[in-house]
Amino acid sequence: MKNLLILTERIPFRRILTKNVKVGTNFKTQRCLASLVQKDARKNAEIDFTAEKYTHLQRNPNFSELTQEDISFFQKILPSNCLIIDKQDDLLPYNIDWMRKYRGKSRLVAKPQTTEQVSRLIEYCNGRKLAVVPQGGNTGLVGGGVPVFDEIIISTNNLNKIRSFDPLSGSLVCDSGCILENLDNYLAEQGYVMPLDLGAKGSCQIGGNVATNAGGLRFLRYGSLHGNVLGLEAVLPDGTILDNLATLRKDNTGYDLKQLFIGSEGTLGIVTGVSIQTPRRPKAVNVALVGLSSFENVQDAFIKAKEELSEILSAFEFWDASAVKLIKDHLVQGSRFPLEDNYPFYVLVESSGSNKVHDDEKLLCFLENLLEKDIAKNAIVAQDETQFRTIWSIREGIPEACSKAGSVYKYDVSMPLEFLYKMVEDVRCRFTDAGLYGEDLAVNSITGYGHVGDGNLHLNISAKSYAPEITALIEPWIYEWIEKHKGSISAEHGLGLMKAKYLGFSKSKSMIDMMKKIKQIVDPNGIMNPYKFISD
Ligand code: FAD
Ligand code: MLT
Ligand code: ZN
Repeated sequence: MKNLLILTERIPFRRILTKNVKVGTNFKTQRCLASLVQKDARKNAEIDFTAEKYTHLQRNPNFSELTQEDISFFQKILPSNCLIIDKQDDLLPYNIDWMRKYRGKSRLVAKPQTTEQVSRLIEYCNGRKLAVVPQGGNTGLVGGGVPVFDEIIISTNNLNKIRSFDPLSGSLVCDSGCILENLDNYLAEQGYVMPLDLGAKGSCQIGGNVATNAGGLRFLRYGSLHGNVLGLEAVLPDGTILDNLATLRKDNTGYDLKQLFIGSEGTLGIVTGVSIQTPRRPKAVNVALVGLSSFENVQDAFIKAKEELSEILSAFEFWDASAVKLIKDHLVQGSRFPLEDNYPFYVLVESSGSNKVHDDEKLLCFLENLLEKDIAKNAIVAQDETQFRTIWSIREGIPEACSKAGSVYKYDVSMPLEFLYKMVEDVRCRFTDAGLYGEDLAVNSITGYGHVGDGNLHLNISAKSYAPEITALIEPWIYEWIEKHKGSISAEHGLGLMKAKYLGFSKSKSMIDMMKKIKQIVDPNGIMNPYKFISD
């Protein structure tokens, strides 16, 4: 191939690690799971209770408190191994969120095994005005899946069966508690792929993905769950089972009610079943890691990727030098990093297609052009599955590396691409001016990464601890900044408890009023996930 030599000279990953391996080996698309932060029981017990830390939150006095009679009822519906009652150590992982930022005081976790059991549980809770929090894999990043006070946790862990798969159409029907990675592995055997993928794939559940309208790493290629979900089964607070598990691609018969549940964050009901359109698994997948000097270069590289890779472009992710420092400090100490020199910015480009020769040629030409035009400073292409996983696990490991650096203030925003990184720079200035930003100061790292292809930035501010003076410096300033730049305060993580007060920065009063009317119709007692984004 033309210029291949020039390119390979600048691709040390290829030279160092593989000899005689053709560029663009066919890889399985399954990536490394960035292992989640281990929940250490002793440390968990030290986390402050949400209700005591955020004193503006008051328990809704309309809600009942759990009684022995209630417990007896739950024991009648569920076997004893599906209930956790008043056992503090066992309750702890359900009461604390992945960020270790929020801690509820729930006394009871119910883990139903069937939709009918969910229905009976919810109907009872509604009648008794017992507040409820639906919980999937508990990997949510906005405090939406854990209780604030003593809400009952309904976990979907035991709803974990694949119901059907049609190899002709690619439609998959499954319980909501199926773990995303398990579904993807199942589909791999059939030659199909889940249309979404996240770093939390080994723990998050498809019901949680639907409830948060998760975006993730394949969004650029396959789009939103609003397009991929074909049907849902959901249990409403009055116990009604809304059975809309259709597998049809087209169905224009009335309101598309399933859309209401996608992104509803457990505030309208419990999703118990999901029908989803899955695409064919791409035969040829390549991944490249690129080092760049500026965010302008990142934008130029993205424009070029769309232009030159077009239909085979499947992911375009970026991160900054601060992310790499955290990865080196906390995740891969002593290991060799694929790109030896340091760069202010890094981009991961993935191509997925059906013709390996064609895809290899396109990707290499694209990378050559980036290097020749000085848009990129260095580039490597994975030569085998290990290298493929290494590059992806760097990207997927960033949230965990940020968490290891301290208590993380996490912001997930979308906005016009030109302003995406300016937000990180402005936040750094703000903390520098306040004398709080530096290796040994209150805030030790401010990191930007995300899904460039979707205009989605993740800003992570790692601090020694969560402290009111740090929060006050960020909020509401950051939400005003986002509004001014015509962005959204939540691109993909949702609002949960963290952003419950701030919906007005991204939605008009008339839209919020409409949401409240819907909530009132579906959940008049307000038992579903209270104190979160749509509660008063
Ligand atoms: P949970 O955390 O258990 O719950 C999340 C919300 O959904 C809560 O409000 C809960 O009440 C509600 N809920 C859960 N299950 C149901 C149900 N069956 N019915 C009704 N409501 C329900 N998110 C992205 O969008 N993109 C990413 O790339 C991404 N990467 C991540 C990487 C890491 C390392 C981590 C820790 C998280 C990441 N997330 C990402 C966030 C998180 O994984 C997603 O929001 C995921 O969809 C949550 O699924 P879950 O099963 O863990 O839900
Ligand atoms: C990601 O893209 O890595 C996730 O959304 C998680 C995060 O933002 O930390
Ligand atoms: Zn993300």
